[in-house]
Amino acid sequence: MQANIVLLPGDGIGPEVVAEAVRALEAVAAKFGHTFSFTERLMGGCSIDQFGTSLTEETLADCQAADAVLLGAVGGPKWDDPAAKDRPERGLLALRKGLGVFANLRPVKVHPALIDCSPLKPEKVRGVDILVIRELTGGLYFGWPKGREVKDGRERAVDTLEYYDYEIRRILELAFKMATGRKKKVTSVDKANVLESSRLWRQIAIETGKKYPEITLEHVLVDTASMRLITGPAWMDVIVTENMFGDILTDEASVLAGSMGMLPSASLGERGPGLYEPIHGSAPDIAGKGIANPIGTILSAAMLLRYSLGLEVEAAALEQAVEQAISDGCRTADLGGSLTTRQMTDEILRRMRDAENPAPIH
Ligand code: IPM
Ligand code: MG
Repeated sequence: MQANIVLLPGDGIGPEVVAEAVRALEAVAAKFGHTFSFTERLMGGCSIDQFGTSLTEETLADCQAADAVLLGAVGGPKWDDPAAKDRPERGLLALRKGLGVFANLRPVKVHPALIDCSPLKPEKVRGVDILVIRELTGGLYFGWPKGREVKDGRERAVDTLEYYDYEIRRILELAFKMATGRKKKVTSVDKANVLESSRLWRQIAIETGKKYPEITLEHVLVDTASMRLITGPAWMDVIVTENMFGDILTDEASVLAGSMGMLPSASLGERGPGLYEPIHGSAPDIAGKGIANPIGTILSAAMLLRYSLGLEVEAAALEQAVEQAISDGCRTADLGGSLTTRQMTDEILRRMRDAENPAPIH
């Protein structure tokens, strides 16, 4: 297979971890006989510095024309001025919207060897295997009206939580489909006791659930869901929720895995390239030191192989190598170890090259 992948390393530790994920993809290509070509572009704070905008039209067009997009992280103190015209985060939101990637898949799986890295009691986190599906192109992030004004001599700011029925339906359909291949349980998270948009969400969740009688559907209010993620995460399987709730709950859920540096994500639309990024941020405090955990980005590359290129065997080979390296005690600083970003990748890739994987089926 031949694939074109656009790289958006971004800011902070983004370039360091994306470089390692590229090495991982190159190792996969060599082992399984594929050709991946990479095109690097600026997005986020680095793009503001270079072009005066966080996402140029050319970069968006290049991403739209690619088979997949791999992103590091955006943002940092340098671009944090609240009065600034543009922000690194705006580029990321414009990219998500421009690619139409409405479904953000954030798997949270606790590796048995990392149970002690979590601040929660071991018996709470053992066996956790959750897939959070976050709606990514609607809700408060994009609703209209939005903005600031002076009204009756007072400053006023507005954001709008808006959802159309089709936006809710397509993300719930995906959640039920994903649950079919898992533990057959969907937890739909809303705030239907207060929000009108949540009442529409819940109504559509119930309608969609009727098409999947083999799947158990439960509705949990977002405040309760945030508590359940700490008190009983092992009981949850697929969680589906709107954009803002998903943003908050996935940071919370990431703590279960021992380090945010472990977690990947995939953002998918109905068609076109997927967008893959680790869920950690740009971590300016450790940028440039070569100590960031590359696993979140390497696992994002595995999701890219699976969802954008249909290379399931290759994706699993990379994931197994990560699991094996962790089982063998390989640790970066965030996990209490001393391996550098590059050394951690070396450990993973050596295990992948040495493993006897089944021949790819294509
Ligand atoms: C995330 C991040 C982004 C979001 C920011 C950087 C805009 O927090 O991907 O979770 O809020 O979606
Ligand atoms: Mg977030």
